[in-house]
Amino acid sequence: MPTESPVRDPHVRLDDAAGLTDLVTAIMSKQDIYPQLRAEWGPIAAVDLIPGVPAWLAMDWDDVMDILRSPATFTRDVGTPEEPNWPAFFDGRVPPYSGLAAFCSPRANAYYTDGWHHERLRAAVDHVFAEVDEKALGRYVRQMCDRMLDRIVKRGTETDLVANYTAFVPALAVAYMYEFDDEDALKLGDLAKAIFSYTEAAGPAFDELYDMLYFHIEARRDAPADQDMLTGLMHWQDPVPGRGPGTYPDHDYRYLDRDELRDTAQMILSAGFEMAVAYTTTTLEKILSDRGLATWVRRGRLDIPETLDWVLVRKSPVRFTPPRYVTADVVLGGRLLRKGDAIVTAVAHATLDKHTDTFDPYTSVGIDPIWSSTSRASLAFGAGPHRCPAHRFSRIVVEAAVDRAVNRLPGMQLTVPADDLGTGLSLWASNADRLPVRYQHAIDHASSPV
Ligand code: HEM
Repeated sequence: MPTESPVRDPHVRLDDAAGLTDLVTAIMSKQDIYPQLRAEWGPIAAVDLIPGVPAWLAMDWDDVMDILRSPATFTRDVGTPEEPNWPAFFDGRVPPYSGLAAFCSPRANAYYTDGWHHERLRAAVDHVFAEVDEKALGRYVRQMCDRMLDRIVKRGTETDLVANYTAFVPALAVAYMYEFDDEDALKLGDLAKAIFSYTEAAGPAFDELYDMLYFHIEARRDAPADQDMLTGLMHWQDPVPGRGPGTYPDHDYRYLDRDELRDTAQMILSAGFEMAVAYTTTTLEKILSDRGLATWVRRGRLDIPETLDWVLVRKSPVRFTPPRYVTADVVLGGRLLRKGDAIVTAVAHATLDKHTDTFDPYTSVGIDPIWSSTSRASLAFGAGPHRCPAHRFSRIVVEAAVDRAVNRLPGMQLTVPADDLGTGLSLWASNADRLPVRYQHAIDHASSPV
C-alpha cells in the first residue's frame, strides 16, 4: 500500500520522535493502526514498544524480508553493557524487571544470537525437528485431542474452546517432544503463558522453567529416553568441525554446553507455546465467525490444511517478530535507521497488505505476475535464518487439533458476537482470548464435519 507523502521527517532520530502510538494499548483496544501510521510515517513508522521505549515498525513485505534476511545489519543479539546493540536495553529505559526485559534478555540459544553462534545453535534445533516421527506425532495429538473433547462433551453442549481446549494444545506437543507426563506438560503451559505475558510474571516464570528443565536434563543423563528431543539435544554433535572461537580450551564446541542445552530446550518450549495456541484459536475463530469460510469448510470446498493456509495469509497468528537491532546506519523504506535503533516487523499486516495490493479480488488477476490469487505466501513463520524451525511440526499439531474439534462438536456456533471477543495480552501472538461456543449433542469420533 504505497503512501504518497508521509508527514514525518524521514531523517528524524528514533529517540527524538514524539507522540508515538503505544503498540500494546493499540492492540488491546483492537485499533487498526496501520492506515494512520502509514499516512503519518510511510512504510516504516516509529512506535512505542512500551511507553518511553521506541522502535521502528516495518509494514511492507519487501522491507520485512530485507530485515529478516539481513542479520548482520538487523541483529537479534541485544549485545552487552560494554558493546550494546540496543543501548535502551542497558541504560535503564527498558525497566529491568519488565516483561519486555525478560523477553529480550540474551540467552544461549538460537533465538538471541546471530552469525556462527546462531548457525551452530540452530543446527541442533533443526536436527531434533528433523528426527520427529511426524505420523506418530499426528496420531498422538489426535488421540489426546479426542480425550480432551470427550471430557468437554460430557459436560454439556457449551464450552469455552480457549480455556478448555486450544490453551492445552501446545502442552500435548510438549509432552510428545520431551516425553513429559501430563502434569509437567500443563505446568509448562502456565509458565510459557507467563513468559509471553509481557508482565512482571515473565522473569520468575523463566526461573521456574529453568529449574524444571535442569531436573529433566539430569534425569535423562541417568536414563536417556528413546526418541525425545531433550535426549536428542544432549547427544547432538556439530557437523561443522572446529566451529567456535577457539579461545576456551576446556570448552568442547562439538556439543551443547550446560547453559546452551537448558536455554535451547527452554526456547523450543516457550517459542512454540504461544504461537501454537494462537494458530489453533485463530483457525477455529475464523471457521466460527467468517460466514464464507465456514460455508466452504462445511461444504468441503476447503479442507482443514487449506483453511490453515488461509489463516496464515488473512489473519496471521503472529503479529510482529521480536525486535532486531540496527548495527550500522542504513536507509530502508525511504527512512534513515540509525545504529542502536530497535526495529520490529509487522508480519501479519505485511502479508495481508501484499496479498490485497497485488491481487484484484474481483477479476482474480494478479496485478504483480509473481503473485496469483491462489498464492499462499505468508510471513507468519518468519523468514531468513530465524524462520520458525517448527513450521511442519506445528502444522501437524494444529491441524489435528482443529480437525478433531470441527468433527467432534457438530453445529458448533459462537454464543457471542465475534466482535465481542477480546484479544490476548501478547504483543507478538494474536488470538481471541475466549471462544464461547454451543454445539449439538456430541457425536463420536467417526462423525462428519460441522
Ligand atoms: C510447537 C510449535 C512451535 C515451536 C516448537 C516453535 C519453535 C520456534 C523456535 C525454536 C524459533 C526460533 C528460531 C531461531 O531463532 O532460529 C521459532 C521462531 C519463529 N516461530 Fe516458531 N515454533 C512453533 C510454532 C510456531 C507457529 C505456529 C508460528 C506461526 C504460525 C511460529 C512462528 C515463528 C516465527 C515468526 C519465528 C521467527 C521469529 C524471528 O524471526 O525472530 N512458530 N519458533
